[in-house]
Amino acid sequence: MSSVYLHIPFCRTKCPYCDFYSQPGSAAQLAEYLQLVEQQLEFLRQDFPDQPPLQTVFFGGGTPSLLAAEQVARLLDRLTDAFGLAQDCEISLEANPGTLDAHKLSGYRQAGINRLSIGVQSLSEQRLQILGRSHSREEALAAVALARAAGFVNLGLDLMFALPDQSKDDLQAELDELLGLEPEHISVYGLSYEAGTEFARRQATGELREADERLYAEHYRLLHLHLTQAGFEHYEISNFARPGRRCRHNQVYWQRRACLALGCGAHGFAEQGWGERYLVPADLTAYRARLAAHQDPREPLERFDRQGAMSETLYLALRTADGLAREPFRQRFGLYPEEAYPRQFEQLQGYLQRVADSWRFDLAGWLIYDHLISEFL
Ligand SMILES: C[S@@+](CC[C@H](N)C(=O)[O-])C[C@H]1O[C@@H](n2cnc3c(N)ncnc32)[C@H](O)[C@@H]1O
Ligand code: SF4
Repeated sequence: MSSVYLHIPFCRTKCPYCDFYSQPGSAAQLAEYLQLVEQQLEFLRQDFPDQPPLQTVFFGGGTPSLLAAEQVARLLDRLTDAFGLAQDCEISLEANPGTLDAHKLSGYRQAGINRLSIGVQSLSEQRLQILGRSHSREEALAAVALARAAGFVNLGLDLMFALPDQSKDDLQAELDELLGLEPEHISVYGLSYEAGTEFARRQATGELREADERLYAEHYRLLHLHLTQAGFEHYEISNFARPGRRCRHNQVYWQRRACLALGCGAHGFAEQGWGERYLVPADLTAYRARLAAHQDPREPLERFDRQGAMSETLYLALRTADGLAREPFRQRFGLYPEEAYPRQFEQLQGYLQRVADSWRFDLAGWLIYDHLISEFL
């Protein structure tokens, strides 16, 4: 299995709640950036000469749909030259409504993009404005229709919840409308107030109020109930898919499998030893300078020891509905999870379920996942 994550650190405008690495950028800056990415790809090609053909490629951001179809095609050609693409390679691209048109979308299809993830976020004009999104509700609906017309049969839509003043009924209405678009995949994100963002500042002044835990839980349960009733599988804390439509790229991450990191701000993982995580620092000036000096811009982030690998294997697997398979865990680490963490399994037994050979969190466990996994760190 081999994968590539490619980060595009540009957006039309910066959303006031977002702390992902992205900034407004011109077409010229984007074009220059793609040249840098191609230079970095040479380092990856040299470092990973025996890489099998890629099984998944993910254009993430930022806003990768700022790229013209020709730019996407060229990058995929370079990746094919470097590593080859598996016949059934999943090639995803994150797209923002308002950046798409029929010509671009059919160019993406021709270039090989076979999975599109559209950041709808909300279908309420008022809440899109509160979120500071650079697109309207109509543009979000049009983006979905255009993607279908261009032949995309694997469409993911992102929806945010626990938004300021959003009631359960509001969320229900938005969800019903979203389901009417018949997506193959839905990701749901409860609004978080990230340090350093405009939203965190407005929360501190009392201008914005974070949804309380009870409302957050009600929204999350509503999403779970209605999406599973509509035939979606709740396969990870934030992700729902129609049967056979899970995002394969994200599963690479939760299963701790290798992923190459390309672009400024990208994170990668190598499987050697107990695993090594690295990153390309989220600093475009440093990225440019290092590549100009013919230096690999990657930096090591963490080299795992056995204990670290064991805990990460466990807490990533517990994000998923498949859960943590006991026997493979024992084969890798020499003991079953409940033997490795007897105190934690005893404490968390109210949230953990044993299904066949796997341990899983129930919905209540997922709701307080961050709190529960702190026990295993
Ligand atoms: C970083 S974005 C990239 C995709 C695209 N640019 C977009 O905005 O749709 C990936 C997802 O993270 C979500 N996200 C970013 N900041 C968030 C926050 N503070 N709380 C909840 N979701 C957030 C976005 O709404 C989006 O669905
Ligand atoms: S468009 Fe997406 S990546 Fe860009 S600032 Fe908004 S949420 Fe963040």
